[in-house]
Amino acid sequence: MTEQLRLAVIGAGAMGRDHIRYIQDDADARLVAIADPMPATEQVAKDAGVPWFADYQEMLECTALDGVVIASPNHLHVPMARETIKHGIPTLVEKPISDDLDDARAFAAEARVSGVPVLVGQHRRHNPKVRRAKEIIESGALGKIVTVAILYNLYKPDTYYDIPWRRQKGAGPILVNMVHDVDLMRYLIGEPVEIQGMSANAARGFEVEDSAVATVRFANGTLGTITLSDSAASPWNWESTARENPFFAPYDTDAYYIMGTKASLSLPRLHLFSHAGGVSDWTKPFVCEVQGVREGLPHRLQLKHFERVIRGEEAPLVTPEDAIKTLEVLNAVKRAADGGELVRL
Ligand SMILES: NC(=O)c1ccc[n+]([C@@H]2O[C@H](COP(=O)([O-])OP(=O)(O)OC[C@H]3O[C@@H](n4cnc5c(N)ncnc54)[C@H](O)[C@@H]3O)[C@@H](O)[C@H]2O)c1
Repeated sequence: MTEQLRLAVIGAGAMGRDHIRYIQDDADARLVAIADPMPATEQVAKDAGVPWFADYQEMLECTALDGVVIASPNHLHVPMARETIKHGIPTLVEKPISDDLDDARAFAAEARVSGVPVLVGQHRRHNPKVRRAKEIIESGALGKIVTVAILYNLYKPDTYYDIPWRRQKGAGPILVNMVHDVDLMRYLIGEPVEIQGMSANAARGFEVEDSAVATVRFANGTLGTITLSDSAASPWNWESTARENPFFAPYDTDAYYIMGTKASLSLPRLHLFSHAGGVSDWTKPFVCEVQGVREGLPHRLQLKHFERVIRGEEAPLVTPEDAIKTLEVLNAVKRAADGGELVRL
């Protein structure tokens, strides 16, 4: 058996506690420290049986670590990751890589020069269903992809917004949630070149938006839409449909629709629709083939990947450079929504 990797978590909030659990459950890793200035998180460390640090820098100074997971508020990701790479520690940093594009670009260059691997926590890419969808698309089974429609509409409890940073600039569902949809959209369809958008805060009235829509033109000619709201009581979102996290009650429907000239695919159920006889003909009935995949929880698969990255066996699946491209699209959505213009990337 290989030696267990010594991992620490910076930021023991909602997501950080999930990471803590995944590490504790993993046979190849060992949680060795937690850093979070919030006094209540001392108990999280006590429960986990590891030292607690109010100051993450102190933790980095005095703990032997093979890897660090950063799950702090978005604006702290880059400053913290700068410190972890300064210490030469491979880092899994939560999405979005930053709330500041220029800073993210500067950091990506620093990380590249340092040679210390940095993996960005776009966990959905590790979902076996997403991997299968990519294979189906690349096989040409859909023909030319003409349109894509992505839905992310759910109702976050009002208490979610009791935490101030979530209401303020630098947070909001475009950065916090659409980041996943844009990342998958880029992974599955290609790079966007033009964006139009609108956003609204009419449901909650906070500084950040609660709803947004974006229309996208891709370099390959595909057109797409993303419809997002965290104030809509609807099952048409990845969390309710993908069964990635038992916290969300599952509902058997889809959230992504990818339409091609030969066939169309919906996710996460992986329903592949084509006309009977295999030739597109609107007089023919549809056949729906359900594509099977092995199950696997993406956050846990992401941790396994991070371990292989630490061991030098794999390169990070989502690099800072890759995450920056996603951030550029999100910034374009925001600019388009704020200014009402068409944004070219
Ligand atoms: N990949 C996913 O599925 C997923 C899901 C939810 C959130 N996230 C991401 O995880 C991050 C955290 O989100 P959350 O919902 O857990 O937020 P949260 O507010 O619940 O937790 C953030 C934690 O960071 C701590 N923190 C603040 N300053 C710190 C510092 N200087 N040093 C160490 N810790 C510090 C806070 O005290 C808090 O406990 C965000 O970037 C979010 O986008 C990812």
